[in-house]
Amino acid sequence: TGDISGCPFHGNGDSRSLFGRTNKDWWPDALQLDILTQDGKSADPMGEDFDYCEAFNALDYNALKADLTALMTDSQEWWPADYGHYGPFFIRMAWHAAGTYRTGDGRGGAGSGQQRFAPLNSWPDNGNLDKARRLLWPIKRKYGKHISWADLFILAGNVAIESMGGPVFGFGGGRKDVFEPETVYWGTEDLWVDQGAETRIIPDKNKDLENPLAAIQMGLIYVNPEGPGGNPDPLLAARDMRVTFARMAMNDEETVALTAGGHAFGKAHGAKPSDTFSGNPESEALALQGFGWLTDPAEIAKGNITTSGIEGAWTPNPTKWGGDYFRLLFKYDYELVHSPAGAQQWQPINPDPADMAPDARDPSKKVPTMMTTADMALKMDPEYRKISERFRDDQAALDDAFARAWFKLCHRDMGPKARYMGPEVPVEDLIWQDPVPAGTTPSASAVADFKAKILASGLSVSELVKAAWASASTYRNSDHRGGANGARVRLAPQSGWKANDPDELAKVLAKIDELRGDLSMADAIVLAGTAAVEKAAKDGGFDISVDITTGRGDATQEQTDADSFDALEPFADGFRNYLKTKAIVKTEDMLVDRAQLLGLSIPEMTVLVGGLRALGAVSGNTGRGVLTDRPGTLSNDFFVNLLDMATAWSPVEGSGDEEFVGKCRKTGAEKWRATRADLVFGSNSQLRAQAEVYAECGNEAKFAADFAKAWAKVMDADRFDLTCAKYHG
Ligand code: HEM
Repeated sequence: TGDISGCPFHGNGDSRSLFGRTNKDWWPDALQLDILTQDGKSADPMGEDFDYCEAFNALDYNALKADLTALMTDSQEWWPADYGHYGPFFIRMAWHAAGTYRTGDGRGGAGSGQQRFAPLNSWPDNGNLDKARRLLWPIKRKYGKHISWADLFILAGNVAIESMGGPVFGFGGGRKDVFEPETVYWGTEDLWVDQGAETRIIPDKNKDLENPLAAIQMGLIYVNPEGPGGNPDPLLAARDMRVTFARMAMNDEETVALTAGGHAFGKAHGAKPSDTFSGNPESEALALQGFGWLTDPAEIAKGNITTSGIEGAWTPNPTKWGGDYFRLLFKYDYELVHSPAGAQQWQPINPDPADMAPDARDPSKKVPTMMTTADMALKMDPEYRKISERFRDDQAALDDAFARAWFKLCHRDMGPKARYMGPEVPVEDLIWQDPVPAGTTPSASAVADFKAKILASGLSVSELVKAAWASASTYRNSDHRGGANGARVRLAPQSGWKANDPDELAKVLAKIDELRGDLSMADAIVLAGTAAVEKAAKDGGFDISVDITTGRGDATQEQTDADSFDALEPFADGFRNYLKTKAIVKTEDMLVDRAQLLGLSIPEMTVLVGGLRALGAVSGNTGRGVLTDRPGTLSNDFFVNLLDMATAWSPVEGSGDEEFVGKCRKTGAEKWRATRADLVFGSNSQLRAQAEVYAECGNEAKFAADFAKAWAKVMDADRFDLTCAKYHG
């Protein structure tokens, strides 16, 4: 446990499909809108030209915050505010929106407003958050395109904290909504937590949490509040918390600060469910209009609400920030009791009347406070306890730790700070933002001079292309981390990644450094690879100049949280024909996964694979997939030779169906070696159709042009410093 090796395809099972269970499995009868997004038709009503950052910049930010503040205490009859304040409810909504983020593949998180869609809108752990989102609708409607749902969820959480006297560190907007559910791997289980899904960590069965998953059971954001699988053991709960929070880049101190800080507010809802208690929103009746988990309105009015099944507030002041959480946690011994809904929870023994909580609907009535088993972990786990005691004794330390951890929670998936918008972006650079110093734009002559020198340096096309690919291809469209800016490929841990052929990389980088003049390393690495592509194109008879940006900066090792970059190490990179070890996901699935993280389309993925093979840019220089007699020349030979019926392919014995040999059908002579990431372009009918286009006579120039464009796209994928510059004055 505690493993954050970042090998997203390592798990306990024998094999799994790339996406595990999807919405079609959970709701087979749901309306299938995806037939309307065929043929590349977008589901986004705002259209391609809509510039959310521009719209956000025109937002009356202070007016929006004032409206949100007013909303906090504007209790609605259809879902009355506990204690007359919706703040805690909105904090939980924001936390659950952000909390799906996981470092393994950078997916999840608050970045695109996914909580509006299945499966997240219906996960048991997101119970009743449909009401929280609906409470925001009048404000969303009023400000329209100027504030996305994704930003609104987080800003509402921030305003909630502020309005209850809590500390905040800042807010960055810029999360653009999407309009369809994202396909994310959430696990393979057939059941959700409320249906009895097995926990994902079972040491006795040698079962560990599969990467990149960050929740302990299907349908949860993190851990089961009642303890692992409902076992109310605070130490085991601590174990689960440590693993799952680490998957979201949170250390022990951040975990304690977040959990205790969050539970300074609000209450849990564990009334006995009524007979009319309804199902989750995605499966509910049309007339309920997207609401689920509903019960009799009279019960709702009385505050008899079932969400987690746990009942009660953590502190006597659930709408006021302060130190009561730790004060009570340490002041009392707690005993295990059952909530009205039957959940196991912990109650202080003989509490002072002053330490009782108000009833959520009737402040004159006093009720006991409670702790969940997960809360008890903050006291019982020795490491958590040290931190908790420090926070108990030092409120300012808790304030600072909570504010910072909350900011990180809500912004971790936004990538570089250049992407943050609005007047409340903190000035301070934070290490987890992967800061990169601003670069300077070199003159055209300096660029041309360097390109000529590096091509004459004796380094091969393949070496230069591989170094540039190693630098740029770490980019993830999921959390916008990685990429060529910063030249972190020359720093630990990237410089030592097996996929990068470290010795060869070191040699190439040394030469680039020697010749780069005033260029940043980051620019020089990308320019060197691009010069090699242009030369290879020329050798192939294509006169192409590849349009890429310059002006990248170089990060230092001190600006690099090396551990956090482990998660970016490619487990497989089909573009370079790299596979660390056989995984539980098929190699070709991992190619598609990486292409998606790079933000590529099917044709872009196809043309890049074919082009990189022709250039001989294969990890380990194995020659696998280099289906050409002239490696280093840009040609469509990969596609031509792959589709050539004169070759018959068969698996290499002992390779576990990962390596294949292509032999001449007539003579039996071996011609080529290849992997699954190569042969899938001949075997999969859709990819074969793509490969055919690039193999066809008359499409050679198209192939070269498409390759150059896709190459430039990858090299420039992380240049938010340029694309967002216009919004930052
Ligand atoms: C509510 C569990 C971490 C903020 C709850 C509830 C549970 C729970 C069971 C009650 C939900 C209901 O029945 O209405 C956990 C567990 C955590 C965790 C197991 C981690 C180990 C956090 C974090 C935050 C947070 C990190 C925010 C920083 C809240 C708030 C509420 C809440 C504000 C009250 C919501 C309301 O009053 O409606 N949590 N939580 N929790 N949680 Fe957490």
